[in-house]
Formats: sequence, C-alpha cells, structure tokens
Amino acid sequence: MSASSKFLWGAATSSHQIEGDNTKNDWWAWEQMGKVETGEVSGKSTDHWNRFQEDLDLAAQMGLNAYRFSIEWSRWQPYPDQWDPVAIDWYRQLIDECEKRKLKPMVTLHHFTSPLWFAERGGFLNPDSPTLFLKFVKKVISELGDRISLWCTFNEPMVLAVGQYLGGFMPPGEFKPDCVGKLCHHILKSHVQSYDAIHRETKKRNGPWREEPIEVGIANNMIDFFPDRSWHPIDIGLSKVARNFFNRTWWDALTGRPQSFGLPWLIKKPPQVLEALGRRTCDYLGINYYTKGYLSWGSLTQVQADFPIQVKFAKETEPKSELGWAIHPEGLGRMMRFAQTYQLPVYITENGIADATDKYRGQYLISHLKQVAEAISQGVQVKGYFHWSLIDNFEWIKGYEPRFGLAQVDYSNFQRGLRPSARLFSKIIAMHQGYFDQPQIAILNSFTHEQK
Ligand code: FCB
Repeated sequence: MSASSKFLWGAATSSHQIEGDNTKNDWWAWEQMGKVETGEVSGKSTDHWNRFQEDLDLAAQMGLNAYRFSIEWSRWQPYPDQWDPVAIDWYRQLIDECEKRKLKPMVTLHHFTSPLWFAERGGFLNPDSPTLFLKFVKKVISELGDRISLWCTFNEPMVLAVGQYLGGFMPPGEFKPDCVGKLCHHILKSHVQSYDAIHRETKKRNGPWREEPIEVGIANNMIDFFPDRSWHPIDIGLSKVARNFFNRTWWDALTGRPQSFGLPWLIKKPPQVLEALGRRTCDYLGINYYTKGYLSWGSLTQVQADFPIQVKFAKETEPKSELGWAIHPEGLGRMMRFAQTYQLPVYITENGIADATDKYRGQYLISHLKQVAEAISQGVQVKGYFHWSLIDNFEWIKGYEPRFGLAQVDYSNFQRGLRPSARLFSKIIAMHQGYFDQPQIAILNSFTHEQK
C-alpha cells in the first residue's frame, strides 16, 4: 500500500455529543423540553471545546492515524445571516492540531443537529433546505476545504428521518410517516449538491493530505435484521423490507441504482432528485454498524400505539451491551460483503459498544476487526475503521449513562483516561503498522488469546 492509501485506524465523535454549550441547535432546545429519557441535558458535555488538544493527545497516544469529527453548523451560522469567526477559527485549530499529530481528519458536515433557525423553518422538510445547507457547505469549503480530503456529508440520514418523523426520538419528534420520504429527498438533494460543490470548488490543496484524492460519502447506519419469530410470515416479510428500506435505500440512491426508491414512502420523486439519480454521487460507502434487529408484527410498540411493529436489538439469551444491543460481529461482515456489490471502497465510519466497565469492549473490538480482516481477504476494499467513540459522550435520547469511549470521562471534573481496551487497540495498531498495515486475522487471533 502506498503512503496515501494507508489503512485508517481511527476513532469517531460528533460535535453535539462532546463539545458542550451548543446552545443554538435543535437538540439543545429538545433537551430543555425534557425529552432525554433521563431528563438530562447536554450542558457542558465533555467540555471538548476547551479540551480538544487533550482529546487529540489521547488519539495520538493510541497510535491512531485518523479522527472523524463533525462540524457544528449552528456554531458556524448561529443566525441565518451571521457567521461566527470564533467558531470557524476553533475548527481551523482543530485541524491544525490533527495535522500536528498526523491524524487524518474525516469531516462530517451534518451529524443529527441543525441550527435552531433552520429547524424552525421546517428543517430538511423545507424545500429550501438544500439551498440553505449548501450555503454552509460552501463556507466550510472556502474556509477549510483545502486541508480536508475525506468528507462525510450526512451521518445516518435514514436514522434522522425515522427519528424525526416516525420513532419520535429526535426533534421535532412528530409521527408523520409520509414526511420520512420527503425529508430523505431533501437530504439527498443536499448531499448531491454538497458532493458536487466539494469536488468542483476544492481547487487548491494544502496540508499533509493534499496529494490524496478527495473522497465524499455518507455514513449509513446498518442493522442486521431478522424476523423475531423465524416461522412468522409477516415477521419474515418485515425483516426483508427493513433490509431493503433501512440498509439499502441510501446506497442505491447514491450509486445511481434507484430501485429501492420505489418504496411507497419514497415514491414521490421531485424532478431535481431524479436528476441526481442515475449517476454516482459518492466515492465510498460509510458503514455505521453496531448490532442486529429483530422485527415482529402485531405487538403494540413503545414507539407509537397505532404502529404495530416491534424492533428489538437482542434476544434474552444473547450477549449484549448496556443498551441491550446484541454483540453480533458477523453482521458487520455481512454488511461489508453487501457493500462490495456496489464496487466502491468502504470505511467503517462507526462501530462500538456501551460498556462502562470495559468488560466487553476489547473482545468486541477484536471480533469486529476480524470481520474487517476477513472481508478484506475476500476482496472487499475496506480503507479504514473508526471506533465509536474516542471518548465517553452525550448519547442523545439516552443521556450520559451509556459509555462508548475508548477513553472514559469523569463528568465531575472532566478528567479523561484511557480504558484498558484503548491500550489493547493501541497494541493492535502497533502490531499492524510497519508490517501488514491492514487488519490481519493472524495478528488479531494472537490478541484473542491475550484477552482470555
Ligand atoms: C450512532 C450515532 C452516534 C452514536 C452511536 C452510538 O447511531 O451516529 O452519534 O450515538 O450511534
């Protein structure tokens, strides 16, 4: 592998989950309404805004060579006609500090949060939303674009659409199934315009990654779906629909395979979206993978009383995380092999476990990396693995309890410390670098032993 195509060993975060005091976005307002299950608010979060250098030191200490973070749109543009130079400068420094530590940035432009003024105009339901988003993206390109080669326009657009208008777990939390498709269309258009703008407008390149090709994609949440009752025809049908609708729709749309856009919610295609389809508008496929999902019909749900579909993420007897998500590495393998059918490179943009005592994280890491190694040996072009997360953080509707960090955070004094699994990760990385570079089953097997 050439220096420019080195495997990326990374960790991921998002702005609202770590920075603190993101007072001008829709999530902040949602938290104040008491919508987080624990009643918590993000508040100072991990105080990353003031401690980002320390956090990047942790990443460097582990031997990572990449870091995925998101730019908080509401900080850059707190009001429709106002840019905040202080915020812009903070992100410039963040990139400076990444460069100093040889951490290649993967920059996410939208990770669930939107400025309040944008949300108040209907968010991505508003037909003007792609134009408004593009203005922000162009500003990012003009301020920092010369130093970024790896871009993620949207984090989990399907989760955003479902969370906002079906599941009720993201602001505005309304049950309007027909809005899911509309929202997807506007996000797709926003993505396509951003994809084109990034490629068109990033002319001059600077910084350590200036020779590398520009890569733009999205991070797609993927769940390995199964029927809850393996004999039940409707459960079987539901899991097939979910595999198509949830896992596949976005990739089809971005790679110019419009077939799954035929699903009823997405059938009303505005002409401008049709133009986007039929050509490829991503350079890689980003997989956010955590777990499996069991679907069943008939039981009334926690989600909505008149929506009789139940999703659960593990069976009683299965090993699971503190959020009740099954530990199921084979699912990651399946997703990567599915990705290969699109013949594009893959990044694992998120993968991790809520595990406060760090009992399972080491093994989780090894077993999922083994899947990566196996997929690579089968010909899948996996170019990097970003663990979720670099540090503990504010886990949206679940608040601060779930601990996803390779580094733990003591919220009483903001002290950070690497967990044992982080040290393991660092040993794994060190064993690969300079030898094989990409994950190798033999090396990972030697660590499985060590874990026992
Ligand atoms: C993903 C989100 C990320 C984090 C993890 C646990 O779906 O992208 O922000 O919440 O789940």
